[in-house]
Amino acid sequence: MKNRTFAAKLVDKVLQIHDKTFEIFIKDEEIQAEIATLAARINADYAGKEVVFVAVLNGAFMFASDLMKEVNLPAEIAFVKVSSYQGMNSTGRVDEVIGVTRPIKNKHVIILEDIVDTGITMEKLFTLLSVEHPASIEIAALLYKPEAFKGKHTPTYVGFSIPNKFVVGYGLDYNELGRNTRHIYQLKGESH
Ligand code: IMP
Repeated sequence: MKNRTFAAKLVDKVLQIHDKTFEIFIKDEEIQAEIATLAARINADYAGKEVVFVAVLNGAFMFASDLMKEVNLPAEIAFVKVSSYQGMNSTGRVDEVIGVTRPIKNKHVIILEDIVDTGITMEKLFTLLSVEHPASIEIAALLYKPEAFKGKHTPTYVGFSIPNKFVVGYGLDYNELGRNTRHIYQLKGESH
């Protein structure tokens, strides 16, 4: 069989993706513990209510999956796909690719984002969802970069506030690779 080269490779806790080397930043156990805390807050805040989670693809798929398992409310899930990133810099542009697939009129909506960076994606989503007249809209973000944030709608539920540095893993990508890891990684050698 021919030797194959992989563009993303995990060796000894170091993740090589394309031209960059990453090291563990937030461990699996910390992520799961924080998600359990977020879910407990949501369960308490929305007790007696039905919720529609709107998860932002592709990055939020793991966060949405793990959070939903801890939510004990009657809950639907819908997915939207938006894109404002190419490589390691925000393009400052948001393209909606797939819209909401569940009716949200008079429903309590919680947007699930893997990371809120500049907040451009959230502003666009807020506008798109508001016209459907939901009962309420809040944002749950696993990661939040307050230093980069320029939006109006700060996330209500934040897992980890992090410095303005690039991270990958647990759903987050670097040029579409690196999403399939349990931990979250930062560029090797960068101290936070
Ligand atoms: P925003 O619109 O600038 O808030 O960016 C939100 C989107 O950019 C997220 O859903 C991610 O897909 C992507 N993004 C922002 N920061 C990072 C990062 O550090 N690593 C990977 N993707 C990121």
